[in-house]
Amino acid sequence: MNHGFITFEGIDGAGKSSHIEALAQWLRVRGREVLLTREPGGTALAERLRELLLHEPMDALTESLLVFAARRDHLRQRIEPALARGATVLCDRFTDATFAYQGGGRGFDLAVLGQLEGWVQQGRQPDLTLWFDLPPTVAARRRAAARAADRFESEDEIFFTRVREGYAARATAAPERFIRIDAEQPREAVWAQIERELQERGW
Ligand code: TMP
Repeated sequence: MNHGFITFEGIDGAGKSSHIEALAQWLRVRGREVLLTREPGGTALAERLRELLLHEPMDALTESLLVFAARRDHLRQRIEPALARGATVLCDRFTDATFAYQGGGRGFDLAVLGQLEGWVQQGRQPDLTLWFDLPPTVAARRRAAARAADRFESEDEIFFTRVREGYAARATAAPERFIRIDAEQPREAVWAQIERELQERGW
């Protein structure tokens, strides 16, 4: 049985978070130890950086440095130790979100992001990335029905169109790792697709 590092990605309102818990259960029933975590966040320090990122005004370079600082702490303290003991790590967002939000959404320099990625991750990449993809208009409707918006969620449709394009570019660059999930489908159909894709790959 396959194990390793699975990330969940997509624009805000894609509905990914509700499936992470279900996948954790699915894997645990199959006998796996699962670490369920998120970015920015996952450690005490990274959760404090998350609060700043979501609520304090800052430019795109500062955002990028903070998300990678949070990621460094998260990798060292939780993700790498979990992978080393054979656990499966499910992470709600990871570096593809930085390329999509800071790179695509904010238009920040992708080459600088690539350098930060190299320094912080030392070659670590997810084994599998589930990309919950749907049109920004549909995601905006779902967000409106949910919680109060943070700095990212309150961005407009043009921003989320660029974020979506940022994800698409990452998926094209790493097709062996990315699985595009059609997040416009009803919830049960989304889950059925996730289960099928994982089974096909021996998870
Ligand atoms: P969440 O609401 O899915 O937990 O994500 C928090 C927000 O942080 C989300 O709007 C996307 C944003 N974000 C970035 O801008 N860059 C990143 O690298 C990550 C991980 C998240």
